[in-house]
Amino acid sequence: MMLHHDSDPAMFRDLCREVAGVLAPSGIVNAEREAELLIAAVSGRSLGDLQLDQLLGRSIAADDCRRIRLATARRARREPLQHITGTAPFMDFELAVGPGVFVPRPETELLVAFATGELADATGTVIDIGAGSGTVAIGIARACPNVEVVALEASPLAWPWLRRNVRELAPNVDTRFGDWVQQVPEGPLAAICSNPPYVPSTAIPQDPEVRCFDPEMALYSGADGLDEIRRIAAVAAAQLRSDGFVVVEHTEDQGEAIRACFSGAGLKRATTISDLTDRPRLTVAWQG
Ligand SMILES: C[S@@+](CC[C@H](N)C(=O)[O-])C[C@H]1O[C@@H](n2cnc3c(N)ncnc32)[C@H](O)[C@@H]1O
Repeated sequence: MMLHHDSDPAMFRDLCREVAGVLAPSGIVNAEREAELLIAAVSGRSLGDLQLDQLLGRSIAADDCRRIRLATARRARREPLQHITGTAPFMDFELAVGPGVFVPRPETELLVAFATGELADATGTVIDIGAGSGTVAIGIARACPNVEVVALEASPLAWPWLRRNVRELAPNVDTRFGDWVQQVPEGPLAAICSNPPYVPSTAIPQDPEVRCFDPEMALYSGADGLDEIRRIAAVAAAQLRSDGFVVVEHTEDQGEAIRACFSGAGLKRATTISDLTDRPRLTVAWQG
């Protein structure tokens, strides 16, 4: 379907149909829902407000329509919506994101919810390995003000996004640049939390949003995807305090191997946790 003239104003429902008609042929599943989200995000309006305008016969402003049509063309090239809007919602806050940084995923909220539940009344040092835009470090720092959070990131492209988000959302987080093993603070640590790279190097993701826009350094970690998690297990065993824990996110089929890796390093009670849709996506283990 052809886009209308850039500056033609449109009613919300008509614009939804127009945008979905551009997105669907590019392979975007649920193009109608994506169209609604894109229009809401780019116009800065809630879906409720847009629907109300529709009911009252009010069209979307010409300038908003122009920006929505430009965004639609980018999304049709499978650029992630979060890169187009420049923000990603996570927990109860919004992170600034864009090219060079891993797009935050809703499943990582499970990791933060687990960690903050365990750390509710804790003090001590918590590290976030591979902090990216700051999802985990900022989520923990905001929910657990008594712990000191250290965010470790080695990508020069992700680093500015991390610094910006920490400055705006959780300025007490200590950010450190470089390979995380060289940057780990003196132990003993209360917790090690990580959404590390965990995709096997041969398992190239199918979705263009992931394959073409998430940084390779954020995705791949050796032949079985577990290189980084093996390094994490060794440091956890050496640096966690006696009641400390390590928690990592992973694919649905890596839980068993990670439990074996954690137990093999000397950690206790290695356990895999499933998300709300019953997919095993987190593994945790304790020092004692
Ligand atoms: C899957 S992303 C997760 C980002 C963020 N924690 C999130 O949940 O959105 C993994 C992150 O680890 C970083 N990373 C990869 N290897 C690293 C290393 N050796 N030291 C520090 N960070 C590393 C990548 O640059 C990337 O930002």
